[in-house]
Amino acid sequence: MHRVPLIYICAAVAAICGCNSDSSRDRDAVAGAEEKQVNPPRVSVPGDDQIIAPDETGIARTVTPTGSIDTRSLFFQNIGINGRACVSCHVANQGWTITPDGVRKRFDRTKGLDPLFRTVDGSNSPLADVRTEDARRRSFSMLLRRGLIRIGIGIPAGAEFELAAVDDPYHFASAAELSLFRRPLPTASLSFLSTVMWDGRENLAGMTILQDLTHQSNSATQAHAQKVDPITDAQRADIVSFETGIFFSQELDFQAGILHEAGAGGGAVALSKTPFHIGINDTLGADPTGQPFNPVAMTMFDAWAGLNKGQEGRTRGAVARGQALFNSKPIQISDVRGLNDALGVPTLQGTCTTCKNTPGVGDHSVALPLDIGLTDPSRRTSDMPLYTLRNIATGELYQTTDPGKALITGKWKDRSRFKGPILRGLAARAPYFHNGFAASLSEVVDFYETRFAIGFTAQEKADLQTFLRSL
Ligand code: HEC
Repeated sequence: MHRVPLIYICAAVAAICGCNSDSSRDRDAVAGAEEKQVNPPRVSVPGDDQIIAPDETGIARTVTPTGSIDTRSLFFQNIGINGRACVSCHVANQGWTITPDGVRKRFDRTKGLDPLFRTVDGSNSPLADVRTEDARRRSFSMLLRRGLIRIGIGIPAGAEFELAAVDDPYHFASAAELSLFRRPLPTASLSFLSTVMWDGRENLAGMTILQDLTHQSNSATQAHAQKVDPITDAQRADIVSFETGIFFSQELDFQAGILHEAGAGGGAVALSKTPFHIGINDTLGADPTGQPFNPVAMTMFDAWAGLNKGQEGRTRGAVARGQALFNSKPIQISDVRGLNDALGVPTLQGTCTTCKNTPGVGDHSVALPLDIGLTDPSRRTSDMPLYTLRNIATGELYQTTDPGKALITGKWKDRSRFKGPILRGLAARAPYFHNGFAASLSEVVDFYETRFAIGFTAQEKADLQTFLRSL
């Protein structure tokens, strides 16, 4: 983590107090966080009550109903059998996920013995050697280098495909349990979700998102914390009430300044008041309120359009230009499984907001996981397993680093489909995409440029990045 000049912390505190001047508890919590920047935080519970937290390019903020983070919630308690809690992988000052930097610090502090470093899903293989610190450093390399957790999912009974070949550098994966290396999703701003988990596996038929999250709180406890018996309804409610009450966003950018100044609507407080319903601003016209799709889904930085005085003004102008590109730069969308094939349209003319249509938030407002090519063998890095699937009916072969939704439905058409996550608080939580493919926002933009031949100029790329880091 970078050392943050005190002036920025003061600015953030002033900004936060300014917009919440009626909440003295909020001020206290912020003051507590400020103190923690000077005196390193306690290490026993990573990320406890850090309402504001510095990141690479500014300061991010969490807002909660009470103005502080209630670490008495079960979210912070060791409720399984391996010492883990939800906070082991969802840390406030790491964007409510974990960052490679944060993971490495925890490893160094504990010689790789912190409960995060468990072989059930923390190591590259459950059979990995963890007897010495050196062995642990090797065995947890995916977690240490890219903040990736190993999700183990087998090929479901009755699937339309079988596993024809496995190339697992860690010699574990099989049809019974593929090793899928994925980033923990942030447990904040969850009231904007339409899809729970990267592959939507917790979207249960006929259930609301709240019911899905309730179910998920138990699955997570049993899977990651290895609890044998299910947790109680009251325990599930405790976790869900905590996680659905928190909103997370960038609050201040070192160059653009406070993100809700001069008429702008960035920051976590505005986010917490952003309206949402499933299907809002639906791209295909299925918003239940009947409102047509509006590609201008991001408007919080409208007031900064055209600013160019001084470094702050110039950066604010860039944020507004980046926002306009996000809303309107034309993209020829082709070969996206879940979209082009489902609509029977080989090329769809769209923009970023075609798939990131939730106003002010940037996830997809309906559950529609898509394959944008992130698991293609051409993008495989040598540390990732590669799977070859065979379609049982046609014999067709297909290679992927992660079959995604197909492992949940067993359907060939669902190969490598993943949800688009919430785009707020991005600066705090690189690397990006389900598999941590992009180490930075610049690599995210490069990915889209390569994949869709958008034709961004260098200036446009820079503006788009400045916008994304301000979310
Ligand atoms: C060992 C690390 C780890 C622990 C511990 C952990 N999680 Fe997660 N969490 C993950 C990973 C990895 C994902 C994404 C996995 C996927 O989608 O396949 C995830 C996803 C989630 C999501 C989905 C968010 C979204 O946008 O869809 C929620 C909610 C969540 N976790 C809550 C919890 C709760 C509650 C607990 C404690 C009971 C918990 N997690 C414990 C690693 C962890």
